[in-house]
Amino acid sequence: MLVFLPILALLALTRLHMRTRVTPTKLAKHYTSLSDGAWLFRMADGGAGSEHDTTVRLPHGFGERSAAWFARGLSVSQTLLDSGAFVLDFGAVSAEATVFVNGMEVGRHRGGFSRFRLDGSKYATAPFTVISVLTNNSRGLTDVLPLKADFNLYGGIFRDIGYHIVKQNTPVLNLFSNGSPGVKFMQTNAISRYRPDVAEFNTVVSVACLGVMREDSRYFNVKVEVFYPGIGRRVASRNARFSLNFNCTIASSFTIPFSMRKPRLWDGRADPFLYSATVSIIYQQNIVDSYTTNIGVRSYFLDPERGFLLNGREYPLHGVNLHQDWLNLGWAITPRYTLQNFKMMDELNTTALRCAHYQHSDYTYSLADKYGIVVWAEIPNLEVSPADPLYYANAVSQLQELVSQSYNHPSILFWSLGNELSVTDASSFPMPLVFMLHEAAKLEDPYRLTVMAINTPDLSHSMLSIVDAVAVNLYDGWHDSSPNMTGPDLDRYHSSNNRISLGISEYGAGASIYFHSEFPVQRDHTEEYQSLLHEQTWPQLKMRKFLWWKTVFNLADFGNEADSEGEIHGRSDVGLVTYDRSVRKDAFYFYKAVWNSEPMVYITSRRFKKREMQSVDVKVYASGVQTISLTVNGVQMSAMDLREDRVHVWTGVSLLDGGNDIVASSSDGSVVDSVRWMFTSTANEGA
Ligand SMILES: *[C@@H]1O[C@H](CO)[C@@H](O)[C@H](O)[C@H]1NC(C)=O
Ligand SMILES: *[C@@H]1O[C@H](CO)[C@@H](O)[C@H](O)[C@H]1NC(C)=O
Ligand SMILES: *[C@@H]1O[C@H](CO)[C@@H](O)[C@H](O)[C@H]1NC(C)=O
Ligand SMILES: *[C@@H]1O[C@H](CO)[C@@H](O)[C@H](O)[C@H]1NC(C)=O
Repeated sequence: MLVFLPILALLALTRLHMRTRVTPTKLAKHYTSLSDGAWLFRMADGGAGSEHDTTVRLPHGFGERSAAWFARGLSVSQTLLDSGAFVLDFGAVSAEATVFVNGMEVGRHRGGFSRFRLDGSKYATAPFTVISVLTNNSRGLTDVLPLKADFNLYGGIFRDIGYHIVKQNTPVLNLFSNGSPGVKFMQTNAISRYRPDVAEFNTVVSVACLGVMREDSRYFNVKVEVFYPGIGRRVASRNARFSLNFNCTIASSFTIPFSMRKPRLWDGRADPFLYSATVSIIYQQNIVDSYTTNIGVRSYFLDPERGFLLNGREYPLHGVNLHQDWLNLGWAITPRYTLQNFKMMDELNTTALRCAHYQHSDYTYSLADKYGIVVWAEIPNLEVSPADPLYYANAVSQLQELVSQSYNHPSILFWSLGNELSVTDASSFPMPLVFMLHEAAKLEDPYRLTVMAINTPDLSHSMLSIVDAVAVNLYDGWHDSSPNMTGPDLDRYHSSNNRISLGISEYGAGASIYFHSEFPVQRDHTEEYQSLLHEQTWPQLKMRKFLWWKTVFNLADFGNEADSEGEIHGRSDVGLVTYDRSVRKDAFYFYKAVWNSEPMVYITSRRFKKREMQSVDVKVYASGVQTISLTVNGVQMSAMDLREDRVHVWTGVSLLDGGNDIVASSSDGSVVDSVRWMFTSTANEGA
């Protein structure tokens, strides 16, 4: 009898499942990607490459601060065009895009990081339609953010591109609400000191139609369903009836609340649990549109003394900043590159990620959801704040796009309104803009916190009271003083205003994997100095519980034409890994040792192969082991117990002339690392 029970239960589940699917699906919206295939490309503005067309594949970008044309033709049948509106959809075009359909301008978008859609129905033709895009990345665009940046601003078409055919006179999820999916799953009890035992949600759905709604047919249903993944059990379901106005191109917003008792929480690295949620529009007995996403339930809170709380308990946020560029690709990266970034963060076991300094791809935030990494998302409001109403408007629109497009990602907890805004420069008075941005963020999303990264140590400045929390970019030991000043400086800032939550948004040092020194000094760009800075800085951050956020700048090296220091000019080498992500620098393993408790031993200075001194220090980062053994040319050194700081140094190890084999291992031999260093004594050289 018992044997049959699960089968019966399964049958019951299947029936339940079938009952939810009685509405036939007749989608009124159909998407076709234009990312595949060749595009014609030509630089504009008379620069190099503007004489003739070449063919490129998307995504495609360029380093010049210039304009460029992209064009392609597509086959489209009259039947298809007759079946609905033709709406173009762009994932990101930098920095300004002017879009043409068969040579006629259909619209313009300003801002290089966000999704936008344009209705091209008026000019689309069968059997052939030509789409062309004039991208403009000129320095002359004085009212598109960012104006100033410590990283390269690339031009081109990044992320996806395609078109929707949208049936007329039919209610669909609004395509024109800041490029968003038209659905916000708003967890209304997200900001709390306590662990939530009920999840309270408002589903805000924006519905519109292209055309009109006749009197007798303006009603439709919105169905919201939440599923526990895997087994597909439905844990919440709501169905509500609404109507649109006659002129339904003017979108209407509807709110459908639901709650879940004893939800399984999105609990950071430990258990980043995601429910699957679907909104369906049902019109005349058919599902005409639907949207499915992952949602998470969590609570969070900032306490000026206790730091960050996730689901009611203290949960230190530490990790890295990330730029989206990549060696030889600029911003034209595809998902597999993004995944590689996350595999590295997973290896480090970071709990926090600052997506610097602009909106990243939606896939980036999805991976953060999946890996359980808390995200600080931001707009490129950097350094300068010209008193220009067009600039303000662009800042607000980039923020609205970021928030509404990224809303449903549970990993995002903070909207950053700016980075290093100058409060001393008379021509740049950022307060009115910060105030506007804060208001705009709260209007779009009252359930997340606004933050900003500052480099003004005066926490009593009134600009800082506008936002919910701040974090400081602090380069003690790199641009300033010594690494050991980090703690005292943070204490000073904290005590200058202990009502505001303070974090550290950037710190770090540059290093080339080809630069080494037995005597590292500040700004020598050696791996040895970079490691030393992090070894000395991290313990000071770790012990300061009040810090709600701690992120190294940066995960990887990145393009920065203004940077003329270090091995390669035009590149910032502050990464824990190289620009092409092929080499993890020593400092990467320092953070792996302190954040990830899996067994590891790692000998530093492994690329410092030709040693300059006969007597050297051997440094081993280790984690997850009890004791560390070291042999030098087969000779056993005295073993060392695992240290709290994860840094183990054997001083004054004597090298032999010629090759030297250094082997570190856990005493049980489960993890081993080895290096080979050459030493040539001067006496030998002379001989
Ligand atoms: C690009 O933008 C700049 C600044 O607005 C403008 O001067 C230039 O003409 C634009 N280029 C093209 C090809 O439109
Ligand atoms: C609907 O409203 C929009 C915006 O006000 C207007 O441009 C359009 O002409 C209206 N359409 C109809 C059918 O009334
Ligand atoms: C920082 O402090 C550490 C530990 O006290 C010390 O070993 C190191 O020399 C100091 N560094 C600097 C640059 O003062
Ligand atoms: C990763 O970090 C989380 C959060 O700090 C921690 O709970 C977990 O133990 C860490 N995992 C490992 C393998 O160290």
